[in-house]
Amino acid sequence: MNQPKQFPAPAHVKHARLIAWVAEVAALTQPDAIVWCDGSQEESDRLCELMIAGGSMTRLNPAKRKNSYLVLSDPSDVARVEDRTFVCTPDADDAGPNNNWEHPDKMKETLRGLFTGCMRGRTMYVVPFSMGPIGSPIAHIGVELSDSPYVVVNMRIMTRMGRAVLDQLGADGTFVPCLHSVGHPLEPGQKDVKWPCNKTKYICHFPETREIWSFGSGYGGNALLGKKCFALRIASTMARDEGWLAEHMLILGVESPQGEKSYVAAAFPSACGKTNFAMLIPPQSLGGWKVTTVGDDIAWIKPGKDGRLYAINPEAGFFGVAPGTSEKTNFNAMATLKENVIFTNVALTDDGDVWWEGMSKEPPAHCIDWQGQDWTPAIAKETGRKAAHPNSRFTAPAAQCPSIDKDWESQAGVPISAFIFGGRRSTTVPLVFEAFNWNYGVYMAATLGSETTAAAVGAQGVVRRDPFAMLPFCGYHMGDYFNHWLRIGHQVEHAPRIFTVNWFRQDAEGNFMWPGFSDNMRVLKWIVGRCGGKADARQTALGWMPRFEDLDWSGSDDVSREQFDQLTTIDTDAWREELKLHGEWFEKLKSRLPRSLTLKKELFELTLVD
Ligand code: GTP
Ligand code: SPV
Ligand code: MN
Repeated sequence: MNQPKQFPAPAHVKHARLIAWVAEVAALTQPDAIVWCDGSQEESDRLCELMIAGGSMTRLNPAKRKNSYLVLSDPSDVARVEDRTFVCTPDADDAGPNNNWEHPDKMKETLRGLFTGCMRGRTMYVVPFSMGPIGSPIAHIGVELSDSPYVVVNMRIMTRMGRAVLDQLGADGTFVPCLHSVGHPLEPGQKDVKWPCNKTKYICHFPETREIWSFGSGYGGNALLGKKCFALRIASTMARDEGWLAEHMLILGVESPQGEKSYVAAAFPSACGKTNFAMLIPPQSLGGWKVTTVGDDIAWIKPGKDGRLYAINPEAGFFGVAPGTSEKTNFNAMATLKENVIFTNVALTDDGDVWWEGMSKEPPAHCIDWQGQDWTPAIAKETGRKAAHPNSRFTAPAAQCPSIDKDWESQAGVPISAFIFGGRRSTTVPLVFEAFNWNYGVYMAATLGSETTAAAVGAQGVVRRDPFAMLPFCGYHMGDYFNHWLRIGHQVEHAPRIFTVNWFRQDAEGNFMWPGFSDNMRVLKWIVGRCGGKADARQTALGWMPRFEDLDWSGSDDVSREQFDQLTTIDTDAWREELKLHGEWFEKLKSRLPRSLTLKKELFELTLVD
């Protein structure tokens, strides 16, 4: 009989509860070894060498991209699995209809079964990480135990990770335990596969005990547990209890030619433009406007003493969508990707660099696609096969971004002047409008619709309600979440204004009607203008909307007055249909839906009839 292995913790670890938990998980999962990660460059290099030797990682040509790597996943493990994601509260109603639910006791039993021996033949890494600058009063610490070296090297970029976090934890600091396994144990002598994972997947959250258990996937939000699992699902319940907000939002700074600086936070669903908007480069013709990046995916927002809301980016890196990213659409992202990057599921070019659809006008004559097969433009034409998976991603340090805001690591956060909500809607929703007031804004965000994208497994291009872009990320009942938003807005003296945008409206031929990307600055200028009392608008049934002459068109001849009218038209019939969908959505949340939102809907219906 084999004795269970004993793994003494390193001498510098003083945290008895952490040591006990690691031992308990090791006894359950039975790894061959345990490594306490220090977060150093050497450690990361060593893990990359290990993956290269094992054939699961490729080093890119350093003359093209220094210290950068490519990893190709299993074709069955390419995105978040929303239908395998659970919020486990004792009372099902607390998780709400927006979450899959199971009782914590029952789920733990299932998970213990799955995790038993699941790390056999592998190393378990102990990954201490801080969401937010280490030691900051707004930061929160987690410890991820994972049997995936790929997860470790990604977590090192995405969070503040390693020894300094353990030091910060001391002997009894609070941390969120995050347990992760790819669910692919190896018997003695069994050869590993390139991307170990398991057909059975469970991404589970226990808000009461603030724990995360993730099994079976190595990809993105399923496996990098600091991101969606901690910084959104668990943090949203912490925020509800403590009076702040954890949101799926980018944060950007915008500075006028006169040097007036403001910050906005914007929530767009997955793969709907947050990274691009956060790194926007204003058209030069607008005369000296500047945009700076604080964060591209997650915002933690807290009321400040001066009555304003302050936001921090809890992450340290970008896990961004590759396809569509180019020097033309997102110059700052491309500059961020010059070195120290991990690419996942993009194509490998013959000169050892990466490529994806939309990176350049001319595709390479030949490359190896994300499934490891030969790819040429002719093959693509014939088979429709993409070189890069539509949800292929880059993992890159935020500090490398040329547009990074000087205060992006500020402990106090940055003051927010406006919230912007936007979905991917080919019809119905106009380019931009401003809510009449906070409650109206909450209504608009609560009923936000968007066409589904490749960021989650499942049907694509289907309109679904994605309130606040948080449908897959809110760790509790959406009705309670709306109430929380209403309350926060009324608590703070200077609540931000609320706007809705839609970059994705299409004409009858299916072409985008709005140029998007850097031209979004024209809309952003109007938005900050509204906040500063410097931009005009007309009143419509939806809210305040710019007239053609209210936007700055300097240097643009892309959008005619006629096209602008189409982009901003309110199709009453379409909105009546839209309101029916709002109604169906509200019906699902009925038991906990704030009454003020139902009333807003009735009001809205009356306005539309007029
Ligand atoms: P997640 O990381 O999944 O949360 O996505 P995101 O919201 O950060 O989306 P991202 O900025 O990565 O954009 C996703 C896709 O939308 C990319 O292919 C972009 O090229 C495209 N996109 C972004 N902004 C615009 C825009 O203004 N107009 C159009 N037409 N496409 C855009
Ligand atoms: C998203 O899907 O919104 C992402 C990517 O930002 S993931 O980290 O996989 O959640
Ligand atoms: Mn996201």
